[in-house]
Amino acid sequence: MCGIIGFVGREEAAPVLLDGLERMEYRGYDSAGIAVRSETKGLQVRKCKGRLKVLAERTCGGRDLKGTLGIGHTRWATHGEPNDLNAHPHVSENGRIALVHNGIIENYLELKEHLIRQGVQFTSETDSEVVAQLLEFHYRECGNMLEAVGRVLRRIEGSYALGIICADYPNALIAARKDSPLIIGCGETGNFVASDATAIIRYTRDVIYMEDGQIAVLTADSVDLFDDEMLPLEARHSTVDWDVSAAEKGGYAHFMFKEIMEQPEAVAKTVSPRIREGRVVLDDVHFTAEYARGISRIFLIACGSSYHVGQVSKYNWERLLRRPVQVELASEFRYSDPLVDEKSLVVVISQSGETLDTMAAMREAKRRGARTLAVVNVVGSSIAREADDVLYTWAGPEIAVATTKAYSTQLVLMDLIGLYLAELLGTVTGEEYDAIVSAVLSLPEQMRRILEHVQDVQYFASHYFHHDSVFFIGRNLDYAMGLEGSLKLKEISYIHSEAYASGELKHGTISLIEPGTLVVALSTYGALFDKAMSNVVEVKARGAEVLAVTTGRFSEKMEKTADAVLVVPETHPVLQPSLGVVPLQLFAYYVALQRGCDIDKPRNLAKSVTVE
Ligand code: M6R
Repeated sequence: MCGIIGFVGREEAAPVLLDGLERMEYRGYDSAGIAVRSETKGLQVRKCKGRLKVLAERTCGGRDLKGTLGIGHTRWATHGEPNDLNAHPHVSENGRIALVHNGIIENYLELKEHLIRQGVQFTSETDSEVVAQLLEFHYRECGNMLEAVGRVLRRIEGSYALGIICADYPNALIAARKDSPLIIGCGETGNFVASDATAIIRYTRDVIYMEDGQIAVLTADSVDLFDDEMLPLEARHSTVDWDVSAAEKGGYAHFMFKEIMEQPEAVAKTVSPRIREGRVVLDDVHFTAEYARGISRIFLIACGSSYHVGQVSKYNWERLLRRPVQVELASEFRYSDPLVDEKSLVVVISQSGETLDTMAAMREAKRRGARTLAVVNVVGSSIAREADDVLYTWAGPEIAVATTKAYSTQLVLMDLIGLYLAELLGTVTGEEYDAIVSAVLSLPEQMRRILEHVQDVQYFASHYFHHDSVFFIGRNLDYAMGLEGSLKLKEISYIHSEAYASGELKHGTISLIEPGTLVVALSTYGALFDKAMSNVVEVKARGAEVLAVTTGRFSEKMEKTADAVLVVPETHPVLQPSLGVVPLQLFAYYVALQRGCDIDKPRNLAKSVTVE
């Protein structure tokens, strides 16, 4: 949700900023801008509504702006519509200070009114401009930029990652963070700040993850880190170990398709280090049987697709652990006065590790004494660092806004954690344990088999892409999987779509079924196949067009009733959603392709949701 970048070094800043913004555009893409300090002209700002390519054209790929210090921003609008004036960077009234901001300044109105009373004129509707104007106000007062930053940070409330430059400081880039991600990159040609590593990986792998409350001053050759009282801190360096090509399209038309195709490998990477001699080994968590027996409640908390992983895991964990498992939307949980205490295990699931609602829910759970375990993809992200324990999904960088490989790796990792806890509790038989472990190891190969036949899904997508409304129905794990299939479709194709537990249809929703309505009937959960079949018959009787997804064992029966059938390989029931979801991802992708949608950057969305 907004990408920010800053560079100070020995080469021209503007092309570096544009390149970094291009790689982070998935974080927000309704407007973009850069500011560069020029030797002769002070701060030069270019910003405009629209995609980054508009800005790149208007600046001749950055060649129009000369200078080796600059900041850049790609926006996902919160305060003020996407237009040229609301785009970042924001500049103080006299043009001396420019900044880029990711986050929300909650007390901006009060501060803005105060500044207006002092005679300051604002040019945008954003909360971020208030910070630029307030900086100028305090800088005039104290005459020292770092001191002014400290004063401003003490006055603003909310979340921020900030990149700041000042015409009076030709060699310094200032950065600060609270509840919004920000990393520092230490390169050979200069130093960087960025919202995430994808923006700077071409230049350096040597990074410092900034912590909340920290302030950094970067020059071409140095990085100085301070705490919120301006006391110097020692920086802890980390190395980003993934390959540059992992964040590039590599010949695919879309990141989403590339990431769908990468799933077998991503699942294998997530699983293989954690299964040794037939046992699930989770080196990074240290639960004991005694601890597991003392858990009174388990909460799975997340947003969006990660929440759907929780929905699948609820069925699986309750089956394996024989303990009540609650799935909670992070945005609801945090304000629900939740019944969480020291005996609760709270598992938060997040690809980015930066989703603000999930992070706030985790903090609330910790505050109430719960032990927190994070299942996260982005190494070093805020949630990963704050949780008591963290287990990483090794999906690699995921760029498309619609998650696919991260979802699949979360799903399988949650299955492993469930199995691990079940073993500690003694609630799983040796036979079932072995069966699940062996099925987990076969998943990558089974996924590969599905991906060898993408054209089957493409064919059905070309039949059904014109529908305006789609229902996904299923029972038990198929219902949980349908939630994800439905989200994938609506997110990237803009087709209205809903997922229902099939048994609920007759309690209201079936009134929406009319001749020609498309129903995607999920019936991969063998134990309830006959029930699922009855629901297909019911919607067929009302004229629905049915596309079914089932396993080979049931395909013949299903073909007699449904209009079209997609068959996936069979696995242990607990793992079936890991296979069933793949054609649903492909269906969403091909439907969106047919409809000419911007698949990797769907309207109104952004990859990392760092605002409430
Ligand atoms: O990074 P997170 O897993 O915390 O993100 C949660 C949701 O924002 C995310 O899953 C979103 O729903 C995806 N765009 C769905 O494809």
